[in-house]
Amino acid sequence: MLNFNFQNPTHIHFGEGQISVITKEIPLNARVLVVYGGGSIKTNGVFQQVSDALAKHTWFEFSGIEPNPTYNTLMKAQDIIKAENIDYLLAVGGGSVVDGAKFIAAAAEYEGEDPWDIIVKQQPVNKALPIGAVLTLPATGSESNGNSVVTRDGTKIPFSSPLVRPLFAVLDPSVTLSLSDRQISNGVVDAFVHIIEQYLTYSVNGKVQDRFSEGLLQTLIEEGPKALAPATKDDLEVRANIMWSATMALNGLIGAGVPQDWATHMIGHELTGAFGVDHARSLSIVLPSLMQVRREQKREKLLQYAERVWHINEGDDNVRIDQAIKLTVEFFKQMQVPTCLSDVGITDKDIDLLVARLEKHGMNALGEKGDITLDISREILTKAL
Ligand code: NZQ
Ligand code: ZN
Repeated sequence: MLNFNFQNPTHIHFGEGQISVITKEIPLNARVLVVYGGGSIKTNGVFQQVSDALAKHTWFEFSGIEPNPTYNTLMKAQDIIKAENIDYLLAVGGGSVVDGAKFIAAAAEYEGEDPWDIIVKQQPVNKALPIGAVLTLPATGSESNGNSVVTRDGTKIPFSSPLVRPLFAVLDPSVTLSLSDRQISNGVVDAFVHIIEQYLTYSVNGKVQDRFSEGLLQTLIEEGPKALAPATKDDLEVRANIMWSATMALNGLIGAGVPQDWATHMIGHELTGAFGVDHARSLSIVLPSLMQVRREQKREKLLQYAERVWHINEGDDNVRIDQAIKLTVEFFKQMQVPTCLSDVGITDKDIDLLVARLEKHGMNALGEKGDITLDISREILTKAL
């Protein structure tokens, strides 16, 4: 196992009816900015619950944070923050809203000239407004990690700081009942790939991390399809298990002390940036192909994945690996997400553009060993056609 530091101070409030805890979590004398997205919280009752919980607080609203939040939108929040002396942010929404709140929080306290430097120059965040989160879409883990992805001019760039990790997060599975099938699928698949990025590398004998990861993968494989099936769609236990899996997938626990890959994400970001493919769908397209292309480098872990996650015990190593990849694709299909580029209308003519974008963004040494060159990314994209 590798050395690691691990601290996750986000206070999780899990379960139905927990939105009311924000009354106590946010100091009464705080000046709160509630940030949210395109309005789903107004139609599913979440906004009302938040309003009720903040009845005695002084609070303001900032809405319109879009999926894949943009710098331009997020910077607009700075005016109200200054005008109203905001000193606390409450993010109410999915990963985009929580990620957006993180950039707003860091930009509000940034002492340099241009807050964009936090992202483009990876300037350290020295101060940020405190953030609380009410999560409405289980997927990213953003509600209890320090990561954020911001888009500017079609380019998605991540930044990270412990100072933007939410102080608390409310996870009420019942608020996920209003999600569309597309967003349910996206969430399950994003969480699944987060686990894979931290698990499917090379072994460092991190038994705890591996077993946690395998348990989470199996939970998503079992519960994900139930959230789409008419008979079990509204089952709150299904939603609860998906929600907690997605948080655990990227709250730092399973990734501590093990190598991490993230190549699927970095290649996927270009599909989103160039062609507007939903984040999770970019991953379900890239991952199967990446598994094929990197099967030698990932052999040991692919075999472990085959045996422990998919119970494949027959055949030689190559047969087992093929079978594990096939079952992964089948699971993605069951979750109704695309599994190749042609599913979203991207053709061989687009590969040059995608590789050029990877090059422009410095993504020429990806993967757990930094050995996925641009040529290998091209191979992964070509195999994904
Ligand atoms: O904007 P509203 O109206 O709220 O609608 C949203 C949005 O259209 C809707 N939605 C959310 N909760 C809902 C709901 N609709 C009905 N009922 C509810 N309960 O869902 C749509 C998508 O929301 P979004 O927040 O964009 O989805 P997601 O949570 O998948 O977040 C994706 C973003 O997170 C980033 C991605 O790159 C992308 O920008 N990521 C963040 C990570 C992190 N912070 O650690 C890691 C991830 O790998 C990822 O990169
Ligand atoms: Zn992701």
